[in-house]
Amino acid sequence: MQVKTFAALGVGVIGGGWVARALAHGLDVVAWDPAPGAEQQLRANVANAWPALERVGLAKGASQERLRFVATIEECVADADFVQESAPEREDLKLTLHERVSKAAKPEAIIASSTSGLLPTDFYASAKDASRCIVGHPFNPVYLLPLVEVLGGEKTSEETLQAASAFYESIGMRPLRVRKEVPGFIADRLLEALWREALHLVNEGVATTGEIDDAIRFGAGIRWSFMGTFLTYTLAGGDAGMRHFMQQFGPALELPWTKLVAPKLTDELIDRVVEGTTDQQGEHSIKQLERYRDDCITSVMTAIAEAKSRHGIVN
Ligand SMILES: NC(=O)c1ccc[n+]([C@@H]2O[C@H](COP(=O)([O-])OP(=O)(O)OC[C@H]3O[C@@H](n4cnc5c(N)ncnc54)[C@H](O)[C@@H]3O)[C@@H](O)[C@H]2O)c1
Repeated sequence: MQVKTFAALGVGVIGGGWVARALAHGLDVVAWDPAPGAEQQLRANVANAWPALERVGLAKGASQERLRFVATIEECVADADFVQESAPEREDLKLTLHERVSKAAKPEAIIASSTSGLLPTDFYASAKDASRCIVGHPFNPVYLLPLVEVLGGEKTSEETLQAASAFYESIGMRPLRVRKEVPGFIADRLLEALWREALHLVNEGVATTGEIDDAIRFGAGIRWSFMGTFLTYTLAGGDAGMRHFMQQFGPALELPWTKLVAPKLTDELIDRVVEGTTDQQGEHSIKQLERYRDDCITSVMTAIAEAKSRHGIVN
């Protein structure tokens, strides 16, 4: 499948990231969003992302001017080869939206949703042809992070899943096929577990938001970026590897370290989290912090790629 025109429906944090990635890979992009001022905000967000994309390397012909913002859903998807929906995370909204999108799109176009955890069988139930509808769940910032979780609903064809994965690869992404249609998929299920524990720690006054972030960024966060959890723990078992690690730390799994059931989101807890993160943010605007984050991400990705090539690691 040759994708020349990419349609973005809903261009908030995630949709805007898709637009920036697609433009940087030399595609024509058509966007629609019902919010007042959405076009202006989208163009500002793409401009803020562009320096990082230039560092990564723009495709031939890539230009911010190849973005067209239109007034209707139908106009947005009419010429698209690939449609990516990034509307609010509400099943009823996605259900109605996809009924309309699937009628207006070309019959061979692939339709994807950025949903973080809703099930495609449910929200594509009214789509005209659900065999070409998938989930492509990305990570913020979409224009830099390669991971995209790909899965279908009961009616999605294998051919569509393969074509969508190939397309995502062509725009520099790392598609991860999710084998079962489960709520939260893989990555958000893991992130949610960490998030619940972090909120408990704040709620119980064990640590501030900044201290919890320190616990990640000076330790596990660094090794997660190139080894993940399982390979990291294999090395934690020393030369005996994973079997020894499991024997050594197995008993700790029985201890009451984690709670996992989320704490109640009281006003007090929300205030404590917001006050903590406001402190961490200091004088920096969100846009400044986004540029700092982007700089760090591109530096980490370059460093990992160089280390891989020195050590002959291919995957
Ligand atoms: N924020 C994240 O970290 C993240 C990560 C991965 C996936 N997602 C998923 O991406 C989707 C969008 O999330 P977001 O964080 O960008 O939200 P957001 O609130 O930043 O953006 C949503 C956009 O959708 C627009 N919108 C409202 N009604 C719409 C409609 N009927 N059709 C199309 N657009 C409409 C809004 O005006 C807004 O610009 C959600 O499904 C979310 O679960 C979010």
